[in-house]
Amino acid sequence: MFEKVLLAVDGSEHALHAARTAADLARTVNAKEFRIVVAYDFIPPYLGEPNMQYAIDARIEESNKIMEAAIKVVGDLPCEIHTEFLEASPAEAIISVANTRHSDVIVIGSRGVGTLAGLLLGSTSQKIVAHAPCPVLIVR
Ligand SMILES: Nc1ncnc2c1ncn2[C@@H]1O[C@H](COP(=O)(O)OP(=O)(O)OP(=O)(O)O)[C@@H](O)[C@H]1O
Ligand SMILES: [Mg+2]
Repeated sequence: MFEKVLLAVDGSEHALHAARTAADLARTVNAKEFRIVVAYDFIPPYLGEPNMQYAIDARIEESNKIMEAAIKVVGDLPCEIHTEFLEASPAEAIISVANTRHSDVIVIGSRGVGTLAGLLLGSTSQKIVAHAPCPVLIVR
């Protein structure tokens, strides 16, 4: 069980907390595959050039930083770490990766970078729980 772990991170402390738990889980069950996903929003072409290119470059740089921070927190694992960057809404991206990669568990934070106070579960977490093809571990 849980041979293929899918972790999703958005640069928040919540997601890094989830990363620690996902890594502990992977070590405990001796996981065969560990995948980390970062999703970023579609950049509208009406921005025009060169603004569109600046926006794309900024997104790539930010996503790389988010991924690097997560990899650092994850630490040593019994398996390889795969990384995926997707331009899509976060929940759709995460569910699509879980489907195509046949993930056994999705690990996410209860909240993310969103600032809406009082939410127990962010909208990404809610959508993932509603539509995931596998068990979901929401870390608080
Ligand atoms: N862009 C993303 N890429 C990868 N994982 C994400 C992304 N956004 C959210 N997640 C995952 O989902 C978890 C919950 O984030 P969510 O977006 O639901 O909360 P929020 O940002 O507080 O709320 P909202 O986005 O609804 O304002 C995060 O801790 C992270 O694990
Ligand atoms: Mg969010």
